[in-house]
Amino acid sequence: MELKRIVLGVTGGVAAYKAAELARLMVKDGLDVQVVMTEAARHFVGAATFQAITGHPVFTDLWDERVDNGMAHIDLTRGADAILVAPASADFLARLAQGSASDLLSTLCLARDCPLLLAPAMNRQMWEAPATRRNAAQLEADGVTLLGPDCGEQACGEVGFGRMLEPDDLLDSLAARFQPKRLTGLKVLVTAGPTFEPIDAVRGISNTSSGKMGYAVARAALEAGAEVTLVTGPTCLTPPRDARTLRVTSAQDMLSKVEEAADHHDIFISVAAVADYYVLNRSEQKIKKDAHILTLELAPNPDILANISSRPKPPFCVGFAAESENVEEYAELKRRRKHLPLIVANDVTEAVGADEVQLVLLDEAGKHVLEKADKHIQARRLIAHIAQLYNTRYQ
Ligand code: CTP
Repeated sequence: MELKRIVLGVTGGVAAYKAAELARLMVKDGLDVQVVMTEAARHFVGAATFQAITGHPVFTDLWDERVDNGMAHIDLTRGADAILVAPASADFLARLAQGSASDLLSTLCLARDCPLLLAPAMNRQMWEAPATRRNAAQLEADGVTLLGPDCGEQACGEVGFGRMLEPDDLLDSLAARFQPKRLTGLKVLVTAGPTFEPIDAVRGISNTSSGKMGYAVARAALEAGAEVTLVTGPTCLTPPRDARTLRVTSAQDMLSKVEEAADHHDIFISVAAVADYYVLNRSEQKIKKDAHILTLELAPNPDILANISSRPKPPFCVGFAAESENVEEYAELKRRRKHLPLIVANDVTEAVGADEVQLVLLDEAGKHVLEKADKHIQARRLIAHIAQLYNTRYQ
């Protein structure tokens, strides 16, 4: 995909500090970001922060002499794929709804020929005020997309609608606009993260899976237009906002949720690093330390993926093969053993917890290497491959 150019507008509000994180995530996702701040935004966060993150100078002034022909209001959005204003204050919404061009950012929004997305952020009473309701409705009628706001605790201590969506969610909404809708109308079930097999009330056996790959796959499926159910073991990650997320702990819990859901899904992508064993002699209470040797008895967990793929009418099943040696050979054996149309092989000595991975896709046609890249980018490539196989098979 060619590099997308985004103008990130920042207006005056406490949430302006989150715009710096948003800019960082956008750059990491491969977007070229040009920041334009209002005068008020500069009271909340410094331009130098955005300049360092994006690698481009930040503009505020209509009359900025750094723009060659003195036409900053046109030049900065020339060739831009979208303008995203985050946070968008109540005052900024009002000015936009009026078609005002009183500063550089509002002028850019008026003189644009690309989509405009706004992430409102303000005190809950300001958001509920009739004037703001009117302005928001007018902007939507004018074809502007409003992302949020969210409900929750606000900087002023009040609770209600007006919080800016989190940077992750804003990036998801933005990125989704640029992805081909290859999975529209399809339901995708994804498992992610490790499982945790209790030993006693406070201890257990798990593994080092971070969940990043599974969450990235869920996001990529959403971006491609699918309805997504994410069954996740314990991770520190925030699930994508638009996924139906079911949290589980042990492999047995994960199996129950997946078994229930599998029939209603077209595609099952099993990314979870399911623990192969559970503790048979588990204690309900915390085991006390004593002088004896403690023996844990381990019994095999059900194979969730094999369980689903061996059904008479399985969804289109995709496995992941975590290998530390003979990666492709072992992965292909797993693909055949579990009757999968596609398996994704990765080298766990490199992949676990890392942001960038190389993946090898193995299907009936042979092998396809996805050269090392960020897990989000790999997830999109994987979804493109799955969509192609799925469509060939069923359409
Ligand atoms: N898997 C599963 N349930 C299990 C074990 C694995 O659903 N109890 C799934 C994983 O999500 C993955 C695939 O099966 O998609 C392969 O997992 P992996 O751990 O690489 O292989 P195993 O089948 O467990 O074999 P081994 O541990 O011997 O390599």
